[in-house]
Amino acid sequence: MSKFWQDDFEYVALIEDLLELEEVRSLEKFKHHKVTNRLAHSISVSYYSYCLAKRFKLNTRAIARAGLLHDLFFYESEDKHEVGGNGHNWEHPRIALENAKKLTELSDLECDIIEKHMFGATKELPKYKESWIVTLMDKRAAITELAVGGHSIVKSAVSRYQEVMYNSFATAYLAHEPFEQTIDK
Ligand SMILES: [Fe+2]
Ligand SMILES: [Fe+2]
Repeated sequence: MSKFWQDDFEYVALIEDLLELEEVRSLEKFKHHKVTNRLAHSISVSYYSYCLAKRFKLNTRAIARAGLLHDLFFYESEDKHEVGGNGHNWEHPRIALENAKKLTELSDLECDIIEKHMFGATKELPKYKESWIVTLMDKRAAITELAVGGHSIVKSAVSRYQEVMYNSFATAYLAHEPFEQTIDK
């Protein structure tokens, strides 16, 4: 990941219309994982996912856009116990999906990416490769953010996790094609 996202014009072109929207920009007001804000977190998930999608020749547009919108909810993390329903982990992907639908047209692939990004905490399996990448990159971002300022052993665990995750995906991807083909969506 040598380039910073703002210098990657191909990536920026895919999301710049969304970044101009007040609703998306407002994510900057919300703290996320204590050390960052929700917009920075969302861009991080979007950009890392986009880079993997590009490498594996997947749908870069869908992954960049849905990655950016995956946490499009407008309450502070401290207030997550007030969400109701089945709780924050289950509800916020659905809230984000509904909010995202008000801003832009979403394909089935983009809906799946947003709705399944909490896989692990939720049980429904991601349907597409792109959805798997975003849920993994979301966890990567969360661990990295929580490790900021942490002990070096945490940082080295993060680095090892990223390496294992990346290699696992590459191996699974190269071994077979168990998911739906999405490149044309
Ligand atoms: Fe989330
Ligand atoms: Fe997230």
